[in-house]
Amino acid sequence: MIQKFEKVNKIKGELRLPGDKSISHRSVMFASMAEGKSLIKNCSNSADVNSTIECFKKLGALIEKKGELLIVNGAGSRNFKEPPSELYAGNSGTTARLITGILAAQNFKTVITGDESLSKRPMKRIIEPLSRMGAAIEASDTGTLPITIYPSDNLHAIEYELKVPSAQVKSAVILAALHLDQTTVIYEPVPTRNHTEIMLGLETELYKNGKKIYASAINYPEPFEMTVPSDISTAAFFIALTLLVPGSELVIKNVSLNETRTGILAVLKMMGANILIENEASENGEKTGDIRILSSDLVNTEISEEIIPNIIDEIPILSVAGVFAEGNFRINHAKELRYKESDRIAALCSNYKKLGLDVEEFEDGFEVGGNIKNNHVLFESYGDHRIAMAFAVMSMALERGGSVNEFESVAVSNPDFLKQLNEIVA
Ligand code: S3P
Repeated sequence: MIQKFEKVNKIKGELRLPGDKSISHRSVMFASMAEGKSLIKNCSNSADVNSTIECFKKLGALIEKKGELLIVNGAGSRNFKEPPSELYAGNSGTTARLITGILAAQNFKTVITGDESLSKRPMKRIIEPLSRMGAAIEASDTGTLPITIYPSDNLHAIEYELKVPSAQVKSAVILAALHLDQTTVIYEPVPTRNHTEIMLGLETELYKNGKKIYASAINYPEPFEMTVPSDISTAAFFIALTLLVPGSELVIKNVSLNETRTGILAVLKMMGANILIENEASENGEKTGDIRILSSDLVNTEISEEIIPNIIDEIPILSVAGVFAEGNFRINHAKELRYKESDRIAALCSNYKKLGLDVEEFEDGFEVGGNIKNNHVLFESYGDHRIAMAFAVMSMALERGGSVNEFESVAVSNPDFLKQLNEIVA
């Protein structure tokens, strides 16, 4: 579906956004693993989190939506049952990678599949550490889905240093470790999002710029009740839009402000963004707050290597803000972008070229600058939700507007994007 956007004259009002996707995935997984009833409020209504819900239903967890509430009756340790068919992770890397850690410790065989995009994404990064733990996992020659996980009677704790700064790899190892009495130690030299550690209450120590993390059966989840704070990655699109449209002001309520996720706010502030945090609080160990955004004149800034894992999902929308900012927008050390729902470096560069901008593509990033051609452009989303929303925002900031193809892909993280937009476009 091609979605057309007109130039927006003003953004005004207050928004409540759905629950953080990373925390929602984990809340469904941990509640399904725990023995008994858990209650989750404001769980993300994204297609990705639905994939996680469907997988755990097939494994025997009872999961029911009642209005705002998700009620999960979990199976308990090693009580999942062999699913009647393969587990389909859809477009969701988090589902496929994290669930593999759990399945590595079960006494039945499972097969995980995904959609076309997920079936191209690297799985060796989780198979390697899980195999070191004694897991029996088979992938295609290219190290991609479908993967088959067999029961193993040799699963054991390991000490492991992460080779890629990936919260998904870290979490897959932690989730397998929860089934073992001995302690697994994970060395994470570069910090990545730490929701798994917070939600499971794991012990951590400083290690290089990051953490050393300990996990074992004593950390196996118990039933819980929680409210999932709103998703800062979803908020980022509305933050950028408000900054770019003159005379605008927006408040986004109760957003997750976990410091492994707020890099986007830090970079935008360095660019001169007028962003205020109000009503700071804490919800199950996760920081939250309201974000007030006022339109601002932005100036591009240097983006450091260390902050890349923290802003990895926000780079598409950050670059859109950068195109409207003074100076060139440049990003490096971000090769991981090539392994997301699309090759996001290629996707961003090809769309910026459509606007007549000067684009230089690098293996690990790109630079964009120059003048925008004043035409209505049809942007290519590559079926990637974050590319679709980034170019929706771009279109609304352009004199002649713009269109985005395969716009239905936004449902992967935020099915209500257009509805939320209608609430705040004055
Ligand atoms: C996620 C981790 C990140 C992120 C993804 C969600 C998570 O991926 O890009 O959208 O929930 O753990 P990597 O850890 O693979 O970089």
